[in-house]
Amino acid sequence: MNRKDLLTVVDEFDSPVYVYDAAIIEAQYKRLNKAFKKVKQLKINYAVKALSNISVLKLLSAMGSGMDTVSIQEVRLAMEAGVSPDKIIYTPNGVSMEEIEKAAGLGVQINIDNLSILEQFGTKHPKVPVCIRINPHVMAGGNTNISVGHIDSKFGISIHQMPHLKRIVENTKMNINGIHMHTGSDILDIDVFLYASEILFEAAKNFHNLEFIDFGSGFKVPYKEGDIETNIEELGEKLSTRFNSFCKEYGKELTLAFEPGKFLVSESGKFLVKVNVVKQTTSTVFAQVDSGFNHLIRPMLYGSQHEIENISQPKGRERFYSVVGYICETDTFANNRRIAEISEGDILSFSNAGAYCFSMASNYNSRYRPAEVLWYKNKAHLIRKRENFEDIARNQISIEL
Ligand SMILES: Cc1ncc(COP(=O)(O)O)c(C=O)c1O
Repeated sequence: MNRKDLLTVVDEFDSPVYVYDAAIIEAQYKRLNKAFKKVKQLKINYAVKALSNISVLKLLSAMGSGMDTVSIQEVRLAMEAGVSPDKIIYTPNGVSMEEIEKAAGLGVQINIDNLSILEQFGTKHPKVPVCIRINPHVMAGGNTNISVGHIDSKFGISIHQMPHLKRIVENTKMNINGIHMHTGSDILDIDVFLYASEILFEAAKNFHNLEFIDFGSGFKVPYKEGDIETNIEELGEKLSTRFNSFCKEYGKELTLAFEPGKFLVSESGKFLVKVNVVKQTTSTVFAQVDSGFNHLIRPMLYGSQHEIENISQPKGRERFYSVVGYICETDTFANNRRIAEISEGDILSFSNAGAYCFSMASNYNSRYRPAEVLWYKNKAHLIRKRENFEDIARNQISIEL
C-alpha cells in the first residue's frame, strides 16, 4: 500500500478514513507462527478488541487464527465472521455470571479471572471446561493503564491465592483445561516475559487435565524507524524450548497459546485525515485536521506517538507542527513534529493506526465515526461505511414537552 494508493482511498471514500493493509496482517501472523515453529501445537487467538471489523476477523480466521474475546458481543462478532466457537476464547474481566453462562452456552472456551465466579460457575457447571487467568504479579507494560499483571491490578486470580483456587476446583470437581496470564501491553524485555512464564509453569503443575497454556500477549511493536520492539524471534526460540521441556515434565503435549492484538494489526493501519486549517500562533504552527480524539484517542490516553506524514506533498521542506483535532477540548495528536510543509487541504497519514484506534472511536461532539477500508489484493474494499446523521440520532428518544 503506497502513498498513491492511500490518496486513491481518500478520493474514493473521503476523509477521515482508516485503511488496513491485509498483506501486513498476514506477514505478522506468519512471523509469529515461524518464531514458535519448534512448538508442536501452537494456537494464536487474535485479540478482537484491537480491531474488531468482521472482514479483518475473516482474514485472520482464514489464515488459521482463533479469536480472543472479552465480551459477549465480541464472541458474536467472531461467530458472524464464521469462526467456530471451539476456536474462540472468552476472557472477560468483572462481567456477570449471566454473561459467562451465555458465552459457555455458545460453546466457546471460558476463561475465568476471579474466585467468586469460579466457585459459582464450578458449582453450577462442573463439566464445562474452564481456563483460569492467573495474575503472576509481574510489573510489565509500557503504561500504567496497560500494565495488568502487577500486585495492584484488578486482573486475574492472584498466584498467592493458589490454595483457595485449588480448594474450589477440588470441591466442585470442575474441569480446568487451561491456564492463562496476560501481564500487560508493550513488554520490551523478553526476560520479564520468561520470568512470568516460569510462574505460570509452576501454577500449571497444580492442574492435571490441562490442554493448553495461554501466555497472553503484550508484544511491543515499533512506532517509528529504529524503535525498540519485542524480539519475537528470540522470545519464540527461548519460550518454545522451555515450553517443550515443561510438556515433558508434565507428561503431555500441551498447546501453547497467545492472544496478540497490536502485534498482528497495529502496523497494518493508516489513519488518513485532511488538514482544515493551518494556524500560526505566537508559539507554534497548528495543523488542524478533520478528526480528533473521538476517532483516535491513543495519543491522549496513552501518549502514543504515531508517525505523521504529509502524503499530499511529501517532498516539501520540513517544518515543525503541532497536529491537533477539531474537538472542543485539547486534542493534540503530536507536538513539535517535523512534517513536510503543510497546506490546507493536504492529507496527513498517521501510522500504527490498526490496533485500538477505530475500536476505541466514539461519537463525541456528535461526529460520525470514520469509514474503514481493507487494502486487499491490491484493491480498496470498503469494510465499514462512514456513519451519518441517522446513526447519531438512531437510539435517541425525543419526548413530548
Ligand atoms: C487479556 C488480553 N489479552 C490480549 C490482549 C492484547 O494485547 P496486545 O494488543 O498488547 O497484543 C489484551 C489487551 O489489552 C488483553 O487484555
